[in-house]
Amino acid sequence: MSDIQRVGVVGGGLMGAGIAEVCARAGVDVVVREVSEQAADAARERVAGSLERAVARGKLDAGERDAALGRLRFSTEIGDLADRDLVVEAVAEQEAVKAEVFAALDEVVRRPDAILASNTSSIPITRLGRATRRPEQVVGVHFFNPVPVLKLVELVPSMLTGADVLARAEAFATDVLGKQVIRATDRAGFVVNALLVPYLLSAIRMVESGFATAEDVDSGMVLGCAHPMGPLRLADLIGLDTVKAIADSLYEEHKEPLHAAPPLLLRMVDAGLLGKKSGRGFHDYR
Ligand code: CAA
Repeated sequence: MSDIQRVGVVGGGLMGAGIAEVCARAGVDVVVREVSEQAADAARERVAGSLERAVARGKLDAGERDAALGRLRFSTEIGDLADRDLVVEAVAEQEAVKAEVFAALDEVVRRPDAILASNTSSIPITRLGRATRRPEQVVGVHFFNPVPVLKLVELVPSMLTGADVLARAEAFATDVLGKQVIRATDRAGFVVNALLVPYLLSAIRMVESGFATAEDVDSGMVLGCAHPMGPLRLADLIGLDTVKAIADSLYEEHKEPLHAAPPLLLRMVDAGLLGKKSGRGFHDYR
């Protein structure tokens, strides 16, 4: 039985909205904190839209949708997270931004044994923990996109995370959210992105060099390896800015040339061609 009944999510983007949705659907009270009214409205619409789709597909009935919506609050006040048992940070994949969030959570979250979790894909949990005065309560809890669909959670203790905190975070992910947990060491990319992102970067280099088209690279992996989507469509789904950020973290940690973001990826990010969320990336979603 989990002792976590009140969850906070910082950031209501692609990942934060998904995390908030699965928590609310699991019966947990959720506060989502965003930086502005406009961003909070967008987060609310994201979650409501996803719940609506679940109803349309017969996975949820209208009563369950309304109950889930009733468990969700959207706020621009970090102080509204004061009474939370667990807060999951899901802001942009930039260390300085995340560290600032952790420092702020350290100030406002009152419960002394509250868990402060990060959904980071690649930033060391140890460094995020050090932004607080309670690094033993900071842990990586990494979800996968789309969060309502994908079963995995990577659980990443830092060198300072308490064993009880790890156990409580794992019990919440498995018993409450119904996810499957794997444990990873606190190294850039953890398990999944350390394998996935070099593959995505290789696919981008194939397109960059004119070796193959984006369509053919994707068809190759869908039809030849039975992947649910090809690497360029997947990079578009993750967001090319996020792929670049993860590549940067991997490169900084391992100094492996294959982890360096290819110029084509850099230019697409410069151009605002961020993939599905901006309407255009390697494929067109408009
Ligand atoms: N929210 C909720 N449900 C969704 C959804 C979403 N955003 N997108 C799809 N679904 C559900 C659909 O409702 C559908 O469910 P049913 O079959 O039960 O009705 C099911 O997923 C399949 O959806 P579709 O038929 O619309 O589409 P599809 O079969 O092409 O699947 C996909 C879409 C689930 C995205 C699938 O292509 C897939 O799993 N792709 C790989 C995604 C992946 O690898 N994600 C990991 C990214 S890495 C990451 O997230 C970590 C990181 O740090 C970067």
